[in-house]
Amino acid sequence: MNYGYFDDQNREYVITNPKAPVKWINYVGTLAFGGFVDHTGGALICKGDPALNRITKYIPQLPDSDFKGATLYLRFKQGNGYKVFSPYSVPTLDPYDLYECHVGLGYTRIVSEFYGIRTDVTIFVPVRDSRLIRDIKITNLSDQPMEIDVIPVVEYTHPDALKQFTNADWVPQTMQSRVYGDEKGLKILIQYPFMYRETRINYFTSNHPVSSFESDRKRFLGESGYGSWANPLSLQEAELSNYEALRGDNIAALLHHLGEIQPGETRRIITQLGQEESVEKALPLIRKYRDEESVDEALRNLARFWDDYLSKMQVETPDPSMNHMLNVHNPRQCYTTKNWSRYLSLYQPGLGARGMGFRDTSQDVMGIITHIPEEGKDLIRKLLHIRKRDGSAMHQFNPLTMVANEGDSREVEGAPRYYGDDHLWIVLAITAYLKEAGEIAFLDEVIPYYEKDEAGNPIESGTVHDHMERAIKFTRHNVGTHGLPLLGFADWNDTVNLKPGAESLIVANLYGRALLEMIELARYLEDTESVEGYTAYYEEMKRRVNEHAWDGEWYVRYLDVDGTPLGSRSNTEGQIYANGQSWPVISGFATPERAAKALDSVYRRLNTRKGIRLSTPGYKGFDPRKGGVTTYPPGAKENGGIFLHTNPWVIIAETIVGHGERAFEYYSQINPAAKNDRINEFECEPYVYPQNILGDEHPQFGLARNSWLTGTASWIYQAATQYILGIMPTYEGLQIDPCIPGKWDGFKVTRVFRDAVYQIEVKNRDHVCKGVKSVKVDGQEIKGKIVPIFGDGKTHRVEVIMGEEVEKR
Ligand code: GLC
Repeated sequence: MNYGYFDDQNREYVITNPKAPVKWINYVGTLAFGGFVDHTGGALICKGDPALNRITKYIPQLPDSDFKGATLYLRFKQGNGYKVFSPYSVPTLDPYDLYECHVGLGYTRIVSEFYGIRTDVTIFVPVRDSRLIRDIKITNLSDQPMEIDVIPVVEYTHPDALKQFTNADWVPQTMQSRVYGDEKGLKILIQYPFMYRETRINYFTSNHPVSSFESDRKRFLGESGYGSWANPLSLQEAELSNYEALRGDNIAALLHHLGEIQPGETRRIITQLGQEESVEKALPLIRKYRDEESVDEALRNLARFWDDYLSKMQVETPDPSMNHMLNVHNPRQCYTTKNWSRYLSLYQPGLGARGMGFRDTSQDVMGIITHIPEEGKDLIRKLLHIRKRDGSAMHQFNPLTMVANEGDSREVEGAPRYYGDDHLWIVLAITAYLKEAGEIAFLDEVIPYYEKDEAGNPIESGTVHDHMERAIKFTRHNVGTHGLPLLGFADWNDTVNLKPGAESLIVANLYGRALLEMIELARYLEDTESVEGYTAYYEEMKRRVNEHAWDGEWYVRYLDVDGTPLGSRSNTEGQIYANGQSWPVISGFATPERAAKALDSVYRRLNTRKGIRLSTPGYKGFDPRKGGVTTYPPGAKENGGIFLHTNPWVIIAETIVGHGERAFEYYSQINPAAKNDRINEFECEPYVYPQNILGDEHPQFGLARNSWLTGTASWIYQAATQYILGIMPTYEGLQIDPCIPGKWDGFKVTRVFRDAVYQIEVKNRDHVCKGVKSVKVDGQEIKGKIVPIFGDGKTHRVEVIMGEEVEKR
């Protein structure tokens, strides 16, 4: 069973049945202004921060058939009243002749046919602009002239998104709307909470005369609010009530009479939803975007943005599902996580508790660095502002205010107030940026630490390099009885919360990986003293890990405060964890023999044909000594579910040990594009990775949830491009060292790197999985597998022959 198909030509996924098992969404704009649009036209739009400045009220928990945030009604005369329907299907649910939701790059286009009327609506936010545009085209397909009215509607929320739900007295008392008449019957309906009326107004407007409007939900629905979104009674009247709300649930509905449309004729009407300081301030751009030509140009600009973004890396492999994902959908998802972190989706509703995560965003940066390194650097800067002087990091922050907090650790009395891993991820992000962009001077930029004095000024600042060094220092000094890093409140796995004093193996290995980065950087900077120092730390931790964490066939995952291991065969539940095995390979701590054993254990004990489980067996009941992980039934989320974020780490580890077949098997089994015909089981969008899939201990094995905002996006992109295809930026140039299935004859990649285009062709006539026999650049053989930096704006041909490696690295 499927609900649509991939249209590669247009770089879209086209949904052909509005009754998808859950809402399938798409993102428009950025965190600065934007949000998501679902496949039935509902929209959640925010400016700057989903928790603190939200514009539309979108309640994911309402039934899928319900109105969410925005819709569009059309109507024509029928009997004594009107036939009212929504071309988005929801909320009126009329039978349709055609329904297509085109999930495009930065836009959603809904094309539908109902009652002889074709509606074609493109919904998007222009690049670097702050308005949601709906470009609506209506065509009369019948053989009779038709009189059609068009009524776009949005429902507002209080900007403090959580207050909207927690205070049903203050919120409705403050919400107000006003109409602002413009020239030629055009109208702007503005809306604001009373306290912001001079500083921040929402506006909704169109480029067609408005004959009447409504701003109060009760009046719009009719009969004291007992009308419904499926059948708003006010739309049975000739005109809306022109009521300017003084309180209550504010909406904006604009009634436009298009007049008589001839058979075959198309009319176009453009709406804008935005927020500005005042109408006066908003007017110039409102006027600009009332012009059809400006809207066409904005759409072309959006396409140009994506052309440019995607052109940084395009692949041609023998696997079509891999090509779909790497050329369009995976980089788009990485751009989305870079924008919204884990802050705003159907599953992570951004109501206040969360913000942008330090750990998450550090990893998200790595997913976009190939495409927009400068934006990556900006995000790194932001993150460094919430680093603490001791080298640890605040767990999350509100992007608008830059106020940070310690996350869930605040809720548990006596628990450590830091997470063992957060501060280390940024080391990886910084070096990824340096290798991509070559801007070593960034290391000298001075950025304040988070702590402030009474006047609110930062107490201390440090260079980017200093921030990195302190991150290493923090872990080095915060170790437990075995000399392994302390867990803190939690590590990457937020849900295992052990007593203070517990030690974490993922932190140990992440520290190892960060040290490898520090050593490589110091070597590049010719700082021998640091190379030696960091190497000593590295060897020391390597010894501790191998001494205390090897369990015979795999590595354990944690040591509890009393020394009891978790993730050991001595446990009855949670005997083996995937991260426990992939990370010692990624850190280089595992000896070759242990690496092979540990990865085989993953294959035997954790793999399913739908993905690798995070751990097994699942914990069978709530146990406050372990924490959140035991709140899930076995097979769900962190409790033995297929938590996808961890799958690419196993893939990366497999490529490090040279297992191209297995790496690709793991890659393919979780490729959402390959689930397109199994949607009844999978349920989520086949064009993005979900965070989790239920594991085989759960009766609904294979069901996905929490799509879009997951670290899977960035890591699977890195795993596929840098480790399977093996195109890896380094300080010296672009290294090419693939690890692919032996049956592949080769593949091609176009990669933009340091202002030159590398047109790479990899040939695998010997059908090996790994090994580079020779590399030719523009016809000349080079030594080794690092293609030099050109920086000349030109295109260079790179030919790589795989086979038995002549010169070992
Ligand atoms: C969620 C969090 C992420 C965490 C993961 C595992 O995806 O956003 O930070 O690492 O869960 O618990």
